[in-house]
Amino acid sequence: MKKRTLWLAGLWCGQALAAPPQVVLHAAPSTSDRKLHGRFLHITDIHPDPYYAEGTSQSSQCHRKEPSDDHQRAGYYGTPFGTCDSPWTLTNFTFEHLEEHWSSEIDFVIWTGDNARHDEDHETPRPLDEVFALNRAVAKKMEDVFLKKGIPVVPSLGNNDVWPHNTLSPGPNEITDEFASIWDAFIPSGFKSSFRNGAYYALEVIPDALAAISLNTMYFYHNNKAVRGCQVGDASDPGNLQFDWLEEQLEMFRARQMQVWVTGHIPPSDYHYFPECYYRYAELSLRYQDVILGSLFGHLNVDHFYFVEAADLNVSPEKDEMVPHSSEGTIFEALMTNFQALAKGSKHLNYDDYAVVTVSPSLVPNPYLPSFRVFSYNISGLGSTTVGAVGEDGYLLMTKKERASRWRHLPYRHGNDGNDGRQCMGAGYRDSWRCKLRPWRSDSHAPSRQNTLWTPLGYAQYYIPQLEKYDEKDGPKFKLEYLTFPISSLHLTEGPVPLRNLPKSLREAGVTESELAPYELRDLTIPSWLDLACELGKPREKKLRKRFKKYMYMGGEDI
Ligand SMILES: *[C@@H]1O[C@H](CO)[C@@H](O)[C@H](O)[C@H]1NC(C)=O
Ligand SMILES: *[C@@H]1O[C@H](CO)[C@@H](O)[C@H](O)[C@H]1NC(C)=O
Repeated sequence: MKKRTLWLAGLWCGQALAAPPQVVLHAAPSTSDRKLHGRFLHITDIHPDPYYAEGTSQSSQCHRKEPSDDHQRAGYYGTPFGTCDSPWTLTNFTFEHLEEHWSSEIDFVIWTGDNARHDEDHETPRPLDEVFALNRAVAKKMEDVFLKKGIPVVPSLGNNDVWPHNTLSPGPNEITDEFASIWDAFIPSGFKSSFRNGAYYALEVIPDALAAISLNTMYFYHNNKAVRGCQVGDASDPGNLQFDWLEEQLEMFRARQMQVWVTGHIPPSDYHYFPECYYRYAELSLRYQDVILGSLFGHLNVDHFYFVEAADLNVSPEKDEMVPHSSEGTIFEALMTNFQALAKGSKHLNYDDYAVVTVSPSLVPNPYLPSFRVFSYNISGLGSTTVGAVGEDGYLLMTKKERASRWRHLPYRHGNDGNDGRQCMGAGYRDSWRCKLRPWRSDSHAPSRQNTLWTPLGYAQYYIPQLEKYDEKDGPKFKLEYLTFPISSLHLTEGPVPLRNLPKSLREAGVTESELAPYELRDLTIPSWLDLACELGKPREKKLRKRFKKYMYMGGEDI
């Protein structure tokens, strides 16, 4: 067995070929022989605010004025269920907590943007250099707490990390240049120059086995007036360029038999994205369902999940009711409508037709409570291998058998069956990505479909209830809000959550039921998510729906 430094093994990733090897080594965290834990952190929407001051009023963004009403008063560690951003006390406390309780338990960090305050205070507008300074400060913390210990960090750009708010023109520009510098330690050297063009990149978080793709969703976002929205034939639109790149990456990762997490700030939907950008996103996530383990997003600050569906690509006039974030009603209502429809047709679900999007709640307690989540994924097949163990051919030794057994005769099916040729000849659709579908690979043994090596198994979500009650003398505590795992899996030798990070009530063997384990999902494959959605879609499952809603809004109001 020959051992090589892992970042060398990852060298031939995409454009890294062109980069001189010494640069790769220089940028690499010292991760050789890192033992895998089978867990990663997802944290999003931190929103630190340097002007936040305890005791001020929410109506001034927690910047000024004594409130007349005590409920309006800014707390020491933040203002729960409120409209203010995070004080540094909360941001600093969170990193201290993550360092102490999680930095020796996880393999990588997904960090999906918005590291500056909102630009809502007209008396104190937010200049671009402040946005950069706040991002630099948070990036420094990520470096100190994770990267220096060899834990890769995958940042992506939020709509509040640019200025003017929501606007980002095609790169290279001042903003993409500055982020190339702020995130210099995180971006692999092979992507440093292309990053300036579009602020997206891929990182092999476990070289040769598992990658995370960081998308710049600003180029898909319908509020960004500096781009044109992925129109067919508009080859220089930055959204199209990014999807062309994404397709190349997915194709390359498939050829290398690797698995991928897709990550970014604004979740994909035809409500948040320009419609043609959404169609491209949906098409790629279904076509590469065998490569993509899941999609991790933030921005909405509401804990939920939903599906990208083949039906979203239909050109038939009866538009589906599957839009997860329509402008009418709350997210909860839209989800229940969709899940109800799924439950009705649950006998005929074709798993090829779905991809899952998970949206994590925010660290900023606006409008709920500070939180983060830790995912667990399957590394059973690896035994006690260290990450650095690479065979002659560059593949992780322990995964070879696994790879070979999966790579048999995979049927292809033709994109979406709903689009008949005639409709696609009509003027309305001819120029839509919905009429440019390519064949999809159907692989029921893929890790996104069946529990196997790299399959996400579940997550544990932590939050700070009663944030208002803590102050300078009495520090806050992150508590387990809920987890998706079956209780019976928690006490296995290599359980999904370190026992020390479980509350006492779950730590003891013999527990069989808990409010904290409402779903008992055996894994987070597409079939498992669909099962949960179908359960939630049954109107008689009142108790389950109530719990789901409580977790979505952390016990607060549905807004
Ligand atoms: C937060 O941490 C930064 C640097 O790590 C420090 O400069 C700052 O004073 C801290 N702020 C608070 C309120 O603790
Ligand atoms: C991981 O996948 C293997 C199959 O490759 C399975 O036997 C094992 O039970 C899975 N591990 C967990 C913890 O689910």
